Amino acid sequence: MLVTGAAQGLGKASSFAFGRRGARIVMVDLNEPGLNDTVAELRNQGIECAGLVANIAESGAPQTIVDRTIQLFGSLNILVNNAAVSSVEALLDVTESEWDKIFAVNVKALFFLLQAAARVMKTGGGGRIINVSSPGTRMTLTNYTSYATSKAAVDYITRTAAANLGPHGITVNAIAPGRMDTPMQRITEESNAAAMGVDLESYIQSRTVDIPLRRRTTPEEVAEGIVWLATQAASYVTANRLNISGGLELD
Ligand SMILES: NC(=O)c1ccc[n+]([C@@H]2O[C@H](COP(=O)([O-])OP(=O)(O)OC[C@H]3O[C@@H](n4cnc5c(N)ncnc54)[C@H](O)[C@@H]3O)[C@@H](O)[C@H]2O)c1
Repeated sequence: MLVTGAAQGLGKASSFAFGRRGARIVMVDLNEPGLNDTVAELRNQGIECAGLVANIAESGAPQTIVDRTIQLFGSLNILVNNAAVSSVEALLDVTESEWDKIFAVNVKALFFLLQAAARVMKTGGGGRIINVSSPGTRMTLTNYTSYATSKAAVDYITRTAAANLGPHGITVNAIAPGRMDTPMQRITEESNAAAMGVDLESYIQSRTVDIPLRRRTTPEEVAEGIVWLATQAASYVTANRLNISGGLELD
């Protein structure tokens, strides 16, 4: 299986969650030291895995990553399309370069990884693809214009991929994680608090008490939902978006 953005946060937790269940994992990230540490941690726990240092947004990288996965482990039946970048900017301040950066990783790379993986899964008897989206696509937010728009694209890619790939035995779902205290969340909240001129700790507190379950989640808790989408129990689940947000996302 293949997990992108595996050096830290949700990608790392997902790699552990699958690895503990016996999966053999190719873990991709552009953060080489972080990825090496994570690979070492998994191997210490007896998990069979390999690290692939790559920028998924580079031209041709998705195909190279999938080819390398097949060289390493001979098959590919689960893809967790997790790597993403975020940015904080009000709509009137969005720049073309920031928009392109966000879309190159969150949308273009995610789509071409899905496409390259699906071609392998089609000939390999099927598979499971899980794309990481965000509750942000269904909320009224000010400072997340390019990020939330990119995740809305992830939702549509999920639906069209489910429709196109279902006949080949490939399920495609998204998950919408709640607020996890990962490096991405920290940077985003620091930027937001600074932009709003409010104290960081009170801002974080206000973004915790507005969650119906009154607590943030963890990458480990969300990873269990990702794993579930790859289990036999979810064999008839496709084109779905699993809300693991503690009730933050309300349809
Ligand atoms: N943290 C949250 O609260 C939260 C909430 C909703 C959705 N999400 C989504 O969950 C996913 C994981 O987020 P996280 O909080 O663990 O983020 P993170 O920033 O902590 O980890 C993301 C990883 O992706 C890697 N990455 C980024 N760009 C890359 C590229 N071009 N090529 C290869 N690797 C790249 C980073 O190096 C990093 O290791 C993302 O899709 C994010 O949008 C996070």
